[in-house]
Amino acid sequence: MDGTFDLKGAADAPFYLPQGDECDIFAAAYRNCLPVLLKGPTGCGKTRFVAHMAARLGRPLYTVACHDDLSAADLIGRYLLKGGETVWVDGPLTRAVREGAICYLDEVVEARKDVTVVLHPLTDDRRILPIDRTGEELEAAPGFMLVASYNPGYQNILKTLKPSTRQRFVSLDFTFPKPEHEIPVVVRESGLAEDRVKPLVRLANKFRALKGQDLEEGTSTRLVVYAATLIAQGMAPDRAIRAAMIEPLTDDEDTRRGLLDLVTAVFG
Ligand SMILES: Nc1ncnc2c1ncn2[C@@H]1O[C@H](COP(=O)(O)OP(=O)(O)OP(=O)(O)O)[C@@H](O)[C@H]1O
Ligand SMILES: [Mg+2]
Repeated sequence: MDGTFDLKGAADAPFYLPQGDECDIFAAAYRNCLPVLLKGPTGCGKTRFVAHMAARLGRPLYTVACHDDLSAADLIGRYLLKGGETVWVDGPLTRAVREGAICYLDEVVEARKDVTVVLHPLTDDRRILPIDRTGEELEAAPGFMLVASYNPGYQNILKTLKPSTRQRFVSLDFTFPKPEHEIPVVVRESGLAEDRVKPLVRLANKFRALKGQDLEEGTSTRLVVYAATLIAQGMAPDRAIRAAMIEPLTDDEDTRRGLLDLVTAVFG
């Protein structure tokens, strides 16, 4: 394995603008075979960050969107019937362990309890994956890295990670980017001119300030990119903002009216 971390792979990597030292911490964790947990609200750049880092580190990436039906077998693999024969088929986690790839478990708290049991021996210094069904005990290949993410805001109290799970990960806290970061991100992603992106970002931050009062969650960078993309394609800003930055946030008519007042305050 080439454990060095330089910018050689960066030219082809998906665009990601760092907010701080998250790239260095991720690379250090990778070099030292430590798993990483990303926490943060929806649409703030977690998935993009992992794709970017996997490309920079030159590792294949297996992403699994976790849900409440996801079982250990979905990750590890199962016997399937193929042409009258039963064959073992690796799941994405097993493939990553064998190949020395990055396995990214998105929304890991949603997964069933038996999944966390599987993760424990992989995320401490043993780095092994026991496969009960085949009797194998796989040692993770060099380069294997487990990355998980979750949004601390959404789960009910029962759906948080146990301390014994979360204390196995180096954790990075993601928040929405500061305007000096978010503006260039939205410009780059949408192609809209900077002077037209600036008021959208200002508006997004006004909406974010309402989190916990009228809104469950603030406007994500993803939604600002959507609005800017629609405007860049010729849609009138007020229509684009309503479709991409207001409707996705709330179904409540009063709240919507309040948000529209903020649009008038920012755009005049
Ligand atoms: N720092 C950044 N650099 C580049 N693009 C970014 C950055 N932050 C956010 N984005 C943009 O925001 C979009 C949404 O980000 P992403 O899909 O990574 O969010 P997420 O945190 O994984 O959300 P979710 O929790 O809903 O999966 C990206 O497609 C990209 O356009
Ligand atoms: Mg994501």
